[in-house]
Amino acid sequence: MELRNFIDSLERAGQLERIANPVHWKYDLGAYARAHRRPLLFENIREYPGFYLFTNGLCAPAHIARALALPAGISRNNLIAALRERLQKPRAPTMVPHGAFRENTLDTLLKLPVPWWHRADGGRYLGTWHVNVTRDPISGVQNCGIYRMQLLGGDSATLSVSPRSHLALHFAAAEKAGTALPMAVCIGVGECCIMAAAAAFPANTCEYDYAGGLQEKPLELAACHTIDLAVPATAEIVVEGLVQPGVRVGDGPFFDYAGVPNVNPQALLFTVTAIGHRTRPIFRGSAVGRAGAEDHQLFSLLAPLGLVDFHGSPKRQAVQNFLLQNKMFRTLQGFTRLGHLLHRPSHAVSEKTSAS
Ligand SMILES: Cc1cc2nc3c(=O)[nH]c(=O)nc-3n(C[C@H](O)[C@H](O)[C@H](O)COP(=O)(O)O)c2cc1C
Repeated sequence: MELRNFIDSLERAGQLERIANPVHWKYDLGAYARAHRRPLLFENIREYPGFYLFTNGLCAPAHIARALALPAGISRNNLIAALRERLQKPRAPTMVPHGAFRENTLDTLLKLPVPWWHRADGGRYLGTWHVNVTRDPISGVQNCGIYRMQLLGGDSATLSVSPRSHLALHFAAAEKAGTALPMAVCIGVGECCIMAAAAAFPANTCEYDYAGGLQEKPLELAACHTIDLAVPATAEIVVEGLVQPGVRVGDGPFFDYAGVPNVNPQALLFTVTAIGHRTRPIFRGSAVGRAGAEDHQLFSLLAPLGLVDFHGSPKRQAVQNFLLQNKMFRTLQGFTRLGHLLHRPSHAVSEKTSAS
């Protein structure tokens, strides 16, 4: 299900709030999203006529069920069972000749309505609920993950990766060879693709296959323009570019999943080679940091399947899994903050950036 169909389905069910009043991308949008715990479609973003922004899409289990085309009233146990069953039947994606994201091009990221989500943030975040696609330089297998990205200007952004994540491994191989790593940033993809990208699957398995399993239909992919990667053809916005070797930049502060401002002084640098978007594009992002926000809701369903990896120690992960499974989101935030304090600086990058 592409993002537009999901939004339509929420609206038909009376679950979508459209905000027609003008809202500023700096602070206001994030504050509204945090205060209103329901799926929101902003239709009037100051300085960005023609752009929409959708958030809080998965902020309740009923919405996650809807994104999977399951009955909204399904029990938690049945929802988890359905996820498990579908993930056991991955489906390889198919290629289509043209991506809808090629309808329009932009010459700068500053023409996208990138929100400054929280007053504690150090800037605007291009990536909070999107998919980062890279290819393993050794095996050639594509990988999808979600990694926060802060805007640095019109043609660059940070990329905050936990050292044990698959993207970090791809980058390490590229950097060792002295080359940049091609990466696509897909904003406004179907929520099944987000769910697969958030889940911790083994290296060298492609999340596109699991996304196809989740939606019970192969994903349709289209080739990027400037790099050798395939991305969801119905993505609203696709930013193509390169993760630069030999460079580290500061990212943050970012008000992260633990509900505190977090910094990563060792973030990677992403430089843009092309930007494409659909006509009347819908930017997708998330106001994380609140207990029970959509990232917590999603992780609480992935945890019983053993698909959450915050890249901390096994003991720490076991506690986090327990808290997620039991929807003890406030305690999860407190526990994670405590971990930040106790483990600094050794976990400064890995644990703290693992689930912004
Ligand atoms: C909303 C959201 C934001 C996330 N942000 C980050 C991040 O900034 N850095 C990070 O290392 N992991 C982050 N994660 C977790 C990774 O996406 C997750 O570990 C995923 O399994 C990584 O996949 P990969 O190892 O296959 O690339 C985030 C997850 C979600 C749902």
